[in-house]
Amino acid sequence: MNKLLKLKNLSVGYNREIVLKNLNFFIEKKKITVILGKSGSGKSTILKTIIGLIPSITGEIVFFDKIIDYYSEKELSKFYNKIGVLFQNGALLNSMNLFDNIALPMRMRFEYEEQEIKERVSTKLDQVGLLKFAEKYPAELSGGMKKRGALARAMILEPELILCDEPSAGLDPVTASELDDLMKKMRDELGATLIVVTHELRSINTIADNALVLNEGKAEFFGKYDDMKNSNNEFINKFLRS
Ligand SMILES: Nc1ncnc2c1ncn2[C@@H]1O[C@H](COP(=O)(O)OP(=O)(O)O)[C@@H](O)[C@H]1O
Ligand SMILES: [Mg+2]
Repeated sequence: MNKLLKLKNLSVGYNREIVLKNLNFFIEKKKITVILGKSGSGKSTILKTIIGLIPSITGEIVFFDKIIDYYSEKELSKFYNKIGVLFQNGALLNSMNLFDNIALPMRMRFEYEEQEIKERVSTKLDQVGLLKFAEKYPAELSGGMKKRGALARAMILEPELILCDEPSAGLDPVTASELDDLMKKMRDELGATLIVVTHELRSINTIADNALVLNEGKAEFFGKYDDMKNSNNEFINKFLRS
């Protein structure tokens, strides 16, 4: 099995409060791993730890068989360039049209010609079904379109790993299921690896290859989603029934 990231004995907290307690899991390459758990259980904290926003108290993150603490600054910046993030309220900037929003990560790197930016942004817009809306401003787009736009922006530097924090929150069921299809397309057609925090059972059922279930900062389950569905664990059964 090909593991893109390995997280070992990971503990993370804020001030004195320990939020994640000794977690062990890995992220399988070219698969979708869902992170499940009640509100406040530490799901977003895991994503923030992976992208280096919060330091871990103990444990290690292994990326391509090397602990990231031992990466040089240059290697680290390469690592972060391979990650695309769709934050929980991952909003587009209102002052820019959709095209410019998606072009932003490329422009911020100052290394792309405008022609290449144009081609790549158009390709991404096409992949998320928004090519016709390139000139529109966020205020002119529906909630689902904004989410798809934000996903296109997270993908623009062609990351290997995409982190999505509750991507379908606040979307109607049809739009949410379109977003699920889009995430699967990124896995199947672009070979991306995704970590998706969600609590929508329908979405989990469609997209999940692997699952991590958090319960008060500990891993209640980690493994294949099919095994999770068939598990006898009371906490998980409650979760699946709720
Ligand atoms: N910046 C922060 N400072 C202090 N505590 C925080 C901060 N962010 C989150 N927490 C706390 O950490 C716990 C986990 O939060 P979070 O990872 O956002 O949970 P989830 O995404 O599962 O809802 C919560 O108890 C929350 O109050
Ligand atoms: Mg959260």
